[in-house]
Amino acid sequence: MSVLDRIGQKLLFTFDPETAHGLSIAALRCGLPVGARTVRDTRLKVSLCGLDFPNPLGMAAGYDKNAEVPDALLGLGFGFAEVGTVTPLPQAGNPKPRIFRLTADEAVINRLGFNNEGHAAAERRLAARRGPGIVGVNIGANKDSDDRVGDYERGVIRFAPHATYLTVNISSPNTPGLRTMQAREHLGELLSRVMAARAAATAQPPIFLKIAPDLVEAELEDIATEVIEKRIDGVIVSNTTISRPALRSGEAVRETGGLSGRPLFERSTIVLARMRKLLGPEMAIIGVGGVDSTDAALEKIRAGADLVQLYTSMIYAGPALPGRIVSGMARFAERENLKSIRELRDSRLDSWASKPL
Ligand SMILES: Cc1cc2nc3c(=O)[nH]c(=O)nc-3n(C[C@H](O)[C@H](O)[C@H](O)COP(=O)(O)O)c2cc1C
Repeated sequence: MSVLDRIGQKLLFTFDPETAHGLSIAALRCGLPVGARTVRDTRLKVSLCGLDFPNPLGMAAGYDKNAEVPDALLGLGFGFAEVGTVTPLPQAGNPKPRIFRLTADEAVINRLGFNNEGHAAAERRLAARRGPGIVGVNIGANKDSDDRVGDYERGVIRFAPHATYLTVNISSPNTPGLRTMQAREHLGELLSRVMAARAAATAQPPIFLKIAPDLVEAELEDIATEVIEKRIDGVIVSNTTISRPALRSGEAVRETGGLSGRPLFERSTIVLARMRKLLGPEMAIIGVGGVDSTDAALEKIRAGADLVQLYTSMIYAGPALPGRIVSGMARFAERENLKSIRELRDSRLDSWASKPL
């Protein structure tokens, strides 16, 4: 980390996590030169679901919930940015405090509960975008909705014309009952209706399903069957975990919510590899959870990911991190004489898929 970055991070850490997050969004919105240079290298390009990603590293959902700064994120070196989760109606989310830093673990626990400004606000911003970069929109359901599947249909119809891809997020642990939509009896109906909504929409972007890391093998098999049957374009593995692996941080580890960051890497990578085994080599998979370095990003690809995302590590390492990871990938491709970073994919699939959860 550069001296400037270090000062910036120190300053942000004097604020509570949610205020610090707001300040970082404001800095990006103002166009402050907070990031690194963008690395362009043909060996890092990934073609997936008809889209051409300039590099395999994306910003995960939850940072830019209201689609305020997707192009500024792309300017930090990310190959794509996912905004949201957005719900049809604005909602406040859970009472504060609801984000906790676990500094000794380079992790975070959050129980935000889909706080966001709603569909209309995000749509207005996305419709005004000029840039050509890849921006996915992550859609969810309102906490008090009496038709949650309908909320996802509304998200598809509304954002299909503005999103390069859509993510159906049914894996947040902070909206009561949401994750039960991952169970086969609910998932089949949800995915059928989502795909019908896309067919009826004015544009047909790829649709990805974002899943939790807290699933047993039988549940993963059910999800894979439905994803294949309903012709979903890909899967994002994973959201935050409700499990608590051995952690070093004190009090904060007892907070309820979803754990993200370095301690999530192992579990989310095992689930990613198992999904790759279940879905086969053609299905698109995005690996997310605990990526904090070039090595970690490459390991997700070795375990079966086509693309990789991160969020929590940027809280600790600052906005130059994506540029550093991507230039590290380019150096790796050069050193190993790879024509494409994709050559790495699945090279450690068996070893990851055989690890116990
Ligand atoms: C503060 C915070 C808010 C998040 N909000 C969302 C969200 O709204 N939708 C979503 O799909 N994932 C959300 N996530 C999960 C991330 O997108 C990602 O799946 C998870 O944090 C694991 O990646 P990481 O270890 O790199 O952070 C959130 C994560 C954090 C830390």
